[in-house]
Amino acid sequence: MTGLAPAASPAASASEDLLVVDAAQKHFGGVAAVSDFYMTVKSGSVTGLMGPNGAGKTTLVNLISGLIHADSGSIRFEGQSIEALPAHQIAALGIARTYQNVRLFAGMTVLEQVMAGSFMRREASLWASFLGLPKASSRLAQLRAEAMTLLERVNLVNRAQVLAETLSYGEQRRVEIARALATRPRLLLLDEPTAGMNAQESAGIGELTHLLRDDGLTVLMVEHNVRLVRDFCDRVTVMNFGRLLVSGTPVECIDHPDVQAAYFGKRADAERIRSLR
Ligand SMILES: Nc1ncnc2c1ncn2[C@@H]1O[C@H](COP(=O)(O)OP(=O)(O)O)[C@@H](O)[C@H]1O
Ligand SMILES: [Mg+2]
Repeated sequence: MTGLAPAASPAASASEDLLVVDAAQKHFGGVAAVSDFYMTVKSGSVTGLMGPNGAGKTTLVNLISGLIHADSGSIRFEGQSIEALPAHQIAALGIARTYQNVRLFAGMTVLEQVMAGSFMRREASLWASFLGLPKASSRLAQLRAEAMTLLERVNLVNRAQVLAETLSYGEQRRVEIARALATRPRLLLLDEPTAGMNAQESAGIGELTHLLRDDGLTVLMVEHNVRLVRDFCDRVTVMNFGRLLVSGTPVECIDHPDVQAAYFGKRADAERIRSLR
């Protein structure tokens, strides 16, 4: 194993950029939420996106997933420009996402939520199969089986028949991930997937990103938890005031003085002022 040259290993494809955000710009009135922003996401990586509150992380995820559109700049996925495409076309190309505030369907079981993800993927072919009724039940059985496999992936099989709204916050976030996976993405965008989770649940999300990476997925994860970023991300990009601050390995980014200043600036200033007294 140790004798394998990088070029012969999966790392060869990991060096390719799956996503390139180039000079992206998005203003809301006078606020430059994303400003001349640049980042790349390597194929096969778990990439972290960090930055203080209001830095523009969610706006960037919204731009990539097509929920909103950039004022200018380009976003390329597998070499194709996607910045002008509607969200459903971007989803069809292989980008799925979760939301900072969990968005599940009311009144649906965990299993149904995940099956809904599959319906989104195969809407056209499913309608065809419904019209040819004899096929429909076997197609549904197949979708159910796929959804159960995904629930196994996120460790929620034993909750399949439960109404999703009755689950804990951490479990709901995992349902949302499974539903995103049901669209069979190649790039998964997670917006603060561990918000509101305890340390053990958070580590579980980190481990899940590695399982998904092993399955061939690329993950871009907005994350504040420094330990999680350090332990699970291959690369990190940090933004501040909508702009690129630093990108590099987790340790390079976390230790970078500009990052420290962005996150802890006020405290550092206070300590410096105190030390001058
Ligand atoms: N729909 C919107 N309308 C107006 N301002 C917005 C909107 N969305 C985000 N913003 C502003 O853009 C900036 C970046 O927000 P956001 O992308 O949510 O940051 P983050 O996710 O890093 O906390 C903030 O100043 C926020 O108030
Ligand atoms: Mg956000």
